[in-house]
Amino acid sequence: MTRLFALAFAVFAFSVGIAMPAAAQDEMTEEQLMKRGKRVFVLCRSCHTLEEGARNKVGPNLHGLFGSKAGTKEGFRYSDVVKESGIVWSSETLEEWLVKPKDFLPGNKMAFAGVRKGTDRLALITYLTALTAASE
Ligand code: HEC
Repeated sequence: MTRLFALAFAVFAFSVGIAMPAAAQDEMTEEQLMKRGKRVFVLCRSCHTLEEGARNKVGPNLHGLFGSKAGTKEGFRYSDVVKESGIVWSSETLEEWLVKPKDFLPGNKMAFAGVRKGTDRLALITYLTALTAASE
């Protein structure tokens, strides 16, 4: 059920064109991107949960990420740089964050080097778009 919803949402995200660079979009179907995104998320899941109401770990729960202001998840202690960044999370800002978090917001406390491959970032963002919006 959750999976179906996620897929439906991914299809929706594609149809409204949420930051899917045309070239990459041509190369992979949304199903392939979702599969790959799920694999890439292994890099994040020791620190982040995605489901609504799930707990904060080392990093904040990411439910409702897209369209939210950075550093606002209740009950999580963010660094000042994130809280004061004024960033609103979208596919574009997330793309920049995921290349190399340290360069995007120097002084943040996410101990993560970055997702090196563009296709992996695209797949991860597709996956996150679906899973952080899923309602169960
Ligand atoms: C070692 C733990 C760790 C890993 C691995 C990690 N993060 Fe984080 N993440 C954090 C922490 C800690 C913060 C809070 C940073 C701060 O306040 O400076 C954070 C913040 C974030 C935020 C901002 C959330 C908000 O509410 O503004 C996003 C988005 C995010 N991480 C995504 C990811 C993704 C996607 C991955 C996998 C590619 C990942 N993180 C991997 C620990 C981690």
